[in-house]
Amino acid sequence: MTIQYLFLVHFLLHFTSLIKSDPEPLHDYCVAETKNSQNIFLNSVPCINPDHTLATHFSTSALSEPGSMNQFDFNVTLSNVNNLPGLNTLGLTMARLDIAANGLVPPHSHPRASEVTILLEGSLLVGFVDTSNRLYTQRLRPGDSFVFPKGLIHFLYNTGISSPALAVSGLSSQNPGAQVSSLAAFASHPAMPDDVLRKGFKMNGQDVARIRRNLGG
Ligand SMILES: *[C@@H]1O[C@H](CO)[C@@H](O)[C@H](O)[C@H]1NC(C)=O
Repeated sequence: MTIQYLFLVHFLLHFTSLIKSDPEPLHDYCVAETKNSQNIFLNSVPCINPDHTLATHFSTSALSEPGSMNQFDFNVTLSNVNNLPGLNTLGLTMARLDIAANGLVPPHSHPRASEVTILLEGSLLVGFVDTSNRLYTQRLRPGDSFVFPKGLIHFLYNTGISSPALAVSGLSSQNPGAQVSSLAAFASHPAMPDDVLRKGFKMNGQDVARIRRNLGG
C-alpha cells in the first residue's frame, strides 16, 4: 500500500464519519423506556424489552393540535421519546410549525440535524445562511418544500398579513436541538458580558440593554 492510498482511506473514513447523523440502530427498533428513570446519564435512552412493545409506542397525536404562541408569534411542537417512544434510535424528529400572520421563527440553528419542511397552509419566506454568509431564500406556497442543511442558521417568516401558516418538518436526529441566535446572544443565563455584546455587535450599552429587555433577557 502506498502512502497516498493510506491517506485516501483515512480521508474517506473520516469523511463518512462526518456525514453520519445519529448512529445506525442495531435492532429493528428500540422503543424508549422513559418510565423507569435511573439517576444516571446515558447518551441515549434505554429501550423497552421488545416482548413488551405495543403498536401505540409507534403512534402519537402530539402533533394534532397547535401549541400556544410565543413572543415571536409561532409555536413548534416536536415528537420526542416521551410522546413517540418508538422513534428512539431511529434518527428522526417530526415537527409541527404554526406561525401566526406576520409571525417569525427567528434565525436559529439545529446543531444535530438537517431539516426538510413542507408548507401545508399559508405562505412563508424561508432561508438559510451558509458558513460563507451566503443567503439562500425562497417564497413557499402550500405544497412546496425547502431543506435547511444541518447546523446552518435559518428562518421561516409568515409574510401573510391575515392568514396563519402551517408547516411540517422532518429532522434528521431524535434530539436536533435548537439555538435561537438573538436569544443565545442577548437572553443567556447568566448574561453575556455587556462588553462582548457591545464589541461583537458594534453597538452601545443602551442598545444592549434595550435588546435584552425586548427579548425578555
Ligand atoms: C408550543 O406550545 C406548547 C404547548 O402549548 C408549549 O409547551 C411550548 O413551549 C411551545 N413552544 C414554542 C417553541 O413556542
